[in-house]
Amino acid sequence: MACSVELKNVDKSFFTLRGRVDVMRGISLHIEPRELFVLLGPSGCGKSTLLNMIAGLEKPTAGSITIGDAVVADPGRGVFIDPFRRNVAMVFQSYALYPHMTVRANIAFPLTNLKPRPPAGDIGRKVREAARLLRIEELLDRKPAELSGGQRQRVAIGRAVVREPKVFLMDEPLSNLDAQLRTEMRAQLKELQRRLGITTVYVTHDQMEAMTLGDRIAVLNEGVIQQLGTPAGVYAHPSNVFVARFVGSPPMNLFEGAVKRDENTRVVLRTADGDILLPERLGADLVAQGKERCILGIRPEHIEPVAAGQGNFDSRISVVENVGSEYLASLFLKSGHIVVRAQHEPQPGPAGLRFASDRLHVFDAGARSSVE
Ligand SMILES: Nc1ncnc2c1ncn2[C@@H]1O[C@H](COP(=O)(O)OP(=O)(O)OP(=O)(O)O)[C@@H](O)[C@H]1O
Ligand SMILES: [Mg+2]
Repeated sequence: MACSVELKNVDKSFFTLRGRVDVMRGISLHIEPRELFVLLGPSGCGKSTLLNMIAGLEKPTAGSITIGDAVVADPGRGVFIDPFRRNVAMVFQSYALYPHMTVRANIAFPLTNLKPRPPAGDIGRKVREAARLLRIEELLDRKPAELSGGQRQRVAIGRAVVREPKVFLMDEPLSNLDAQLRTEMRAQLKELQRRLGITTVYVTHDQMEAMTLGDRIAVLNEGVIQQLGTPAGVYAHPSNVFVARFVGSPPMNLFEGAVKRDENTRVVLRTADGDILLPERLGADLVAQGKERCILGIRPEHIEPVAAGQGNFDSRISVVENVGSEYLASLFLKSGHIVVRAQHEPQPGPAGLRFASDRLHVFDAGARSSVE
């Protein structure tokens, strides 16, 4: 039976020889039954810590965690249910298979360890079912050393599946695989999760994985949730500069500058690289809000290279790369590396850039240092 997972105001501090380290602050999340929920963030932001708290491998310092209708951790009330009684199954990046056991014994392991131990016939049936689901039936008698990375990861997932857990917790399960296999396993995992309908919390630092897998994603940085939403929603409306740069590849282009009027009284963003002509409505809004400075964001696919003088901004294309289905043009500006995605091959040299006026994002000035 699928369960919800709820975190309320969860804080986590580690107490080390160097003193107290606060790694997680005020995390509140409600994960729906059957949902595939992705936690996305850079290395060290606290993804594994959060997953480990749901699993019961770490205790929260404050707040509460509920799985289904059972409160599993609430330090304020002295509640802590140990990991074995939470009925969750975890899959790790490192697979964590037992090298001396066959695939069959590895998958059966969580069942053979149950008390009371289920009848051998039941265990055998569940192992075969899991193996069929993951297409590893012919590997059951091999040892992990005789398997490829992708096969090992399937075995690790099989071991999680046989327990019929209420919740799957997956900590970067695909990151040891090569790019092609990762894409394939990603699709298989999504299909498997749909089919089993088991609530899943999936951790990754790979924004592409998050975008393609997640029903919803939470973007985490420095122990704080930056944004929570559907992949499409987060991509279209990033709530701050961190999310804008972290989600999307190549990342969103950013220009910081002062909101000014030029000699023709048009509103521009005056940057270190020259003036960017703002769409009339946006310019009027910024003036009305009294904004003196801001950061303007625009994704590579929302810029069109045009003749100099014809766009919002005149600059110089330095390099053009053919990436198969499209071209990436690079501009090296004082404000950073700007990338334009184009269907037709742009030419290096002086160029105008035309911005899709309904695709511009405005962020507060000065917020940029936290990402670059
Ligand atoms: N046992 C511990 N004692 C002290 N600090 C810890 C401990 N475990 C984790 N941390 C710190 O907590 C922060 C979050 O760590 P965590 O492993 O959750 O990050 P992560 O997002 O999973 O990173 P990665 O993508 O590299 O796996 C890091 O700054 C880490 O150094
Ligand atoms: Mg981690």
